[in-house]
Amino acid sequence: MAQRQPEQQVVVLTGAGGRFGRILSRHLRAEPGLFPVLLTSDPDALERDDPAAEAVYQVTLADPESVAAVFRRIHEEQGDIDVLINNAAVITEPGFKDFVHKADDARVAESFAVNAAGALYCIRRTLGQGRDHGKKVINVLAGRALTGHERHVEYYASKAALYNATKTLAHDYPRHAFRNVMTGRIDLGDKGDSPDSMWRAFRAFILDPAPAPYREVYFRPRLEFTWRLLAYYWRHFRSCERNDVERS
Ligand SMILES: NC(=O)c1ccc[n+]([C@@H]2O[C@H](COP(=O)([O-])OP(=O)(O)OC[C@H]3O[C@@H](n4cnc5c(N)ncnc54)[C@H](OP(=O)(O)O)[C@@H]3O)[C@@H](O)[C@H]2O)c1
Repeated sequence: MAQRQPEQQVVVLTGAGGRFGRILSRHLRAEPGLFPVLLTSDPDALERDDPAAEAVYQVTLADPESVAAVFRRIHEEQGDIDVLINNAAVITEPGFKDFVHKADDARVAESFAVNAAGALYCIRRTLGQGRDHGKKVINVLAGRALTGHERHVEYYASKAALYNATKTLAHDYPRHAFRNVMTGRIDLGDKGDSPDSMWRAFRAFILDPAPAPYREVYFRPRLEFTWRLLAYYWRHFRSCERNDVERS
């Protein structure tokens, strides 16, 4: 089993075998100050140039016992965890339409079990062992986790669950730092946000000695982003029913 150098930060990445996970793994390997700990459902499928430069653990994210056991092992074998990147997810199905008639109940359950509960098990085990301050959590979400979107009901809703949980955690544990990454489509060979520029934002956070406790991270031109967010909150305000109520 590869082991980190004492000066390296331990960075745990889930979903390391996925498309974005493989890109993040490559960036983590290229940073001498970081030691990648790659979590995956299938270690044999990982592309590995230098097994000595990283540690790999098999985990079943939907199973809290599996997550607890793996995080205990990481702590024993690699030391305290500095950064957790929750990247694994049951993602959208291309072309899917009509949730009411065509959704698969098992996939709905699995989406919440992996995307929301699995990520929370990982956060709990990262923050719950070792030092009680200065740890960092990055959740790879989706911009639509905030706003809702079309068709992919369980995907956006499970991302929204983690979005919301992380805001609560950031409130309750301000000695750690949290980032909800509200990405749009990622360019994984087609079109979208550049994964390398996304990594630069992740890296800046990981290396920041005094980060803000919570930020929502967007990848959009500033003016366009400002306009969209204002429009969203205006629509939200207009959709709220405000009733007077007697209170005891
Ligand atoms: N692609 C996009 O345009 C886009 C847009 C917005 C947000 N995102 C987010 O970016 C992240 C990465 O997306 P991606 O496009 O790289 O997806 P991907 O290629 O499908 O990879 C997702 C990985 O998550 C893990 N995973 C999936 N189902 C699982 C299950 N049932 N149990 C345990 N692990 C499971 C697997 O990792 P292992 O193979 O290592 O087990 C899988 O390879 C996701 O959180 C996604 O929601 C992507």
